[in-house]
Amino acid sequence: MKYLYLPIALLLLNCQSSKKETTTSTDTTKIEQITSVDTLDIDLVALKDQKLLGKTQIVEIKNDPVYHKDKRFNAVLFKDILYKYSSVENLNPAETKIIFECEDGYKPEMPLNRLLDSESFLAISDADAPKGSDWEQIMKDGHEMKAAPFYLVYTNSQHHQSNEYQKPYNLVKVHFAPLHENDAALRPKDESAMVGYTLFKNRCQTCHAINKIGGNMGPELNYPKSVTEYWKTADLQAFIVNPASYRNEVKMPNLGIKPEESAEIVKYLTYMSKHKL
Ligand code: HEC
Repeated sequence: MKYLYLPIALLLLNCQSSKKETTTSTDTTKIEQITSVDTLDIDLVALKDQKLLGKTQIVEIKNDPVYHKDKRFNAVLFKDILYKYSSVENLNPAETKIIFECEDGYKPEMPLNRLLDSESFLAISDADAPKGSDWEQIMKDGHEMKAAPFYLVYTNSQHHQSNEYQKPYNLVKVHFAPLHENDAALRPKDESAMVGYTLFKNRCQTCHAINKIGGNMGPELNYPKSVTEYWKTADLQAFIVNPASYRNEVKMPNLGIKPEESAEIVKYLTYMSKHKL
């Protein structure tokens, strides 16, 4: 697997160095960089199937924020997997992000240097699972969620409790990409949409795509039709604040978005409706 990635790693090194020389690179060169870095995928399920994840150890997590109690997992040091099965060592962590892909379409990301500076473990099974199963079910907002096949945990409890550290469950793949990969495509040129953009990027993009960029646990919000084209503005703003007031058994969580923040997000969505693919 490692050897397979070697030519890609070399290609990548070229791209990274050319990036430094030409800070004003055109969109076309950016696309080339993204494509080459995108090949840095790790399919965790395939590694498990081939029994390549290595020997597990028991990791204890105090007051796990997903299970809301103390937990013990059979886990492997995540960094070991990254270094063994990807070309991560050839990347500049300060300019790279790691993107997690979950089976249900949830797609959070975080800066690679933050991850590498932490003690993160890939939990492979739940040491306290009920007999006959690998995992205890997760209950979230009244819905049963699947932790399998993998859940990322941090032994430093400050990290594990912090929103800055992603702890995806139902995790299947990870990949690396340039830290600012999508800024050119999603960042508005108009200052008045900027507050909404930042909110969207931090609070919504893990589940929703705009112009096909982002998670797909929830629907794409801009392409081919923007939500601002088929929702009335006031309803759209109110839905974002409290989705359950519109739909029974809604799958979008209440994110604690304030009405003023929702108005900013809708401004951004309206701006993007005029900037489709
Ligand atoms: C954890 C995932 C998740 C996050 C985070 C999330 N959503 Fe959603 N969203 C969903 C899901 C799932 C649906 C589909 C809801 C349903 O119908 O049950 C949805 C539906 C929607 C819809 C309705 C789309 C339509 O066509 O009717 C809008 C608008 C929306 N979300 C906006 C947002 C905004 C804005 C944010 C950020 C503040 C956000 N969502 C954050 C998961 C999420």
